[in-house]
Amino acid sequence: MSTSPFALPPAPETLEVTGERVRLRPFEERDLEAMAGYRGDAEVCRFLPFDPQSPDDIRRRIGHLFGGTSLEGERGGVVLVIESEGAVIGDLVLFHLDTDAGSAEIGWVVSPGASGRGLATAAVRALIDTAFVVYGLRRVEARIDPDNARSVALAERLGMRREAHFVEKEWFKGRWGDLLVYAVLAREWAAPAA
Ligand SMILES: CC(C)(COP(=O)(O)OP(=O)(O)OC[C@H]1O[C@@H](n2cnc3c(N)ncnc32)[C@H](O)[C@@H]1OP(=O)(O)O)[C@@H](O)C(=O)NCCC(=O)NCCS
Repeated sequence: MSTSPFALPPAPETLEVTGERVRLRPFEERDLEAMAGYRGDAEVCRFLPFDPQSPDDIRRRIGHLFGGTSLEGERGGVVLVIESEGAVIGDLVLFHLDTDAGSAEIGWVVSPGASGRGLATAAVRALIDTAFVVYGLRRVEARIDPDNARSVALAERLGMRREAHFVEKEWFKGRWGDLLVYAVLAREWAAPAA
């Protein structure tokens, strides 16, 4: 096997991204209450790999990522909160870096109260821009349960390609769940729409 030509550029010192109608910024301690507002909702968690969370649960699970900008290392990854009109409406994660492939995974969650207006789409678009422009990645993936219709729609709205449908891939919340893999390459993202 030959050595991968991909080289990860140094992580930025701070990360703040302005998208259309949204701002992505690092987590601050005072965001925990707002995050627990939606991460504590059973319906929001239906397709997420955790049960409804309290502020303490959130701190325990992803506290090590708060404020960090490096994707590298076993516990690397970036969590950004999504702000719209000054309020925290959701959060995003970029993680599971594959250094040789120059690839990472993106995850998203938005409060039901902020849903249905294109804000999640704008936020994910801004994070994918960041993944390619700031982190120099060449590929971004999303893993989605096919029953998660809003996430499937979001990935497709952004032009991500459905690359795989794994059948009964894992035991998930009381059933054998299927798994879709969506992906987009940097060169596709940069290409002007046909
Ligand atoms: C997945 C999730 C983020 C999608 O939220 P969403 O509200 O559907 O997404 P958006 O905020 O982009 O809104 C899209 C809607 O706004 C509409 N819209 C209005 N203006 C828009 C614009 N400028 N751009 C895009 N969409 C726009 C779209 O047509 C769409 O309408 P619809 O709801 O009638 O289909 C949200 O459902 C969620 O957080 N779910 C729980 C967590 C989860 O499952 N995460 C993923 C695990 S893989």
